Amino acid sequence: MRTVYVNGNYVPEEEATVSVFDRGFLFADAIYEVTSILDGNLIDFDGHMKRLHRSLNELKMPFYMKDADLMAIHRELVSRNAITEGLVYLQISRGAADRDFIFPAASVPPTVVLFTQEKELIDNALAKRGQKVITVDDLRWRRCDIKTVQLLWASIVKNEAKVKGADDAWMVRDGFVTEGSSNNAYIVEGDGTIVTRSFSYDILSGITRTAVLKCAGEIGAKVEERSFTVDEAKVATEAFSTSATGFVNPVVEIDGVKIGTGVPGPVVTRLREIYTETSRAVAV
Ligand code: PDD
Repeated sequence: MRTVYVNGNYVPEEEATVSVFDRGFLFADAIYEVTSILDGNLIDFDGHMKRLHRSLNELKMPFYMKDADLMAIHRELVSRNAITEGLVYLQISRGAADRDFIFPAASVPPTVVLFTQEKELIDNALAKRGQKVITVDDLRWRRCDIKTVQLLWASIVKNEAKVKGADDAWMVRDGFVTEGSSNNAYIVEGDGTIVTRSFSYDILSGITRTAVLKCAGEIGAKVEERSFTVDEAKVATEAFSTSATGFVNPVVEIDGVKIGTGVPGPVVTRLREIYTETSRAVAV
């Protein structure tokens, strides 16, 4: 049985409870982070904490736990649940109070929940085969840079992809790809240039994105941070997505159109290898 963390306690998952008045439940007034676990170690924990604080700040959500304490909880859960490969999910909501659109007093304690999930990150079937994606309108709210639990549109479009026999959906705003349902989106042009949308309110600043763009620099690949259209993507030589749990994940088909040769290409394959090696080496 899995042990989870709720508001200071380690409890069996069946015994874990959160109030029905929790603002995460009622208003999606909560933020989260997903940190991947490789060899039982946390990948890029500092990056996730940095983004967590940014999300808290943007939502003016009071939170006083120290990063070191959060790290200790992450480690404890990994150890108690014997996770060697998978993820730790962390969610912080603005706490429980009578339902009111006005935020509760800052003295209301946040709800802090962490749990682990096992997942095959390295030997991943989808990464070997390459993903098929569909494109859909990006109908999310306009602050996609904040990692809130308001994930309904992402969930709807991922399901739409599944119904259509695809693996994921790339979202499109004003003709340009923003990002995948839960990942950042990239194309590789004929000359090897890696193109991905620049950071703004329109996308989440992926922790994996930062690390992968650094890896790209190390192998001498040219990177352009700019928006690209669906038509550009369809004629790209390669395409891929990145996320904590997907690492570097090839995309081999967009709206039924084969990308490149229709199998994972050399750039994405190399980037996946380098990213895996590098993050494994610095995982803590
Ligand atoms: N999703 N964009 C969106 C909309 C995301 O939800 C995510 C992450 C990313 C990639 O961010 P990172 O590289 O820091 O994981 C980009 C997580 C994994 C999730 O919701 O499960």
